[in-house]
Amino acid sequence: MNLAFLASHGGSNMQAIIDAIKKGQLNANPVLCISNNSNSKALERARSEGVACKHLSSSTHPDPNDLDLAILDALNEHQTDLVILAGYMKKIGERTLAAFRGKILNIHPALLPKFGGKGMYGKRVHEAVIAAEEKESGPTVHLVDEKYDNGPILARAKVPVHPNDTPDDLAARVLKEEHRIYWQTISKIISGEVNLPS
Ligand code: GRF
Repeated sequence: MNLAFLASHGGSNMQAIIDAIKKGQLNANPVLCISNNSNSKALERARSEGVACKHLSSSTHPDPNDLDLAILDALNEHQTDLVILAGYMKKIGERTLAAFRGKILNIHPALLPKFGGKGMYGKRVHEAVIAAEEKESGPTVHLVDEKYDNGPILARAKVPVHPNDTPDDLAARVLKEEHRIYWQTISKIISGEVNLPS
């Protein structure tokens, strides 16, 4: 199973998946990391793990259709089986989505279908969870479709929300679970325990 990552910033989720592969917990190959941010830590991490890197963004490809095709070409060139969005802040283009429908995974730092959608990313998600006085939060792994945070849910993990949590406290607790649930879900896809639509 060849995994390609799309990441915009830190890439800690990508790193956790690569670490699981290195420990022999996950039987997959990290083949490519694409970032829209040429200075991202994600690209730096991928480079130091010996994973092929590509910077593809509106600065390399000003026309969104060209960018979409460049991303699709890169994924195909590396014989990608699964596309792993790991903190990727851009929408996937139409052509890429059509070619990899049902094979693009995302992780969201709240229990979808709550606290998702356009504008719900980063600290805002955890602020909203705390403001709603939720007792639980946690990451969701889901398939990507045309809408933000909308595709079929593959896995969720719960963590408590404590009364005096700051958004940063909660983000750290959720992130820890992200680093476990993402590679475990990929592992279940590989073993057939989690089925992707054909
Ligand atoms: C994570 O919180 C994830 O849920 C969201 O973006 C963040 C990415 O973090 N989609 P990192 O870049 O993997 O460290």
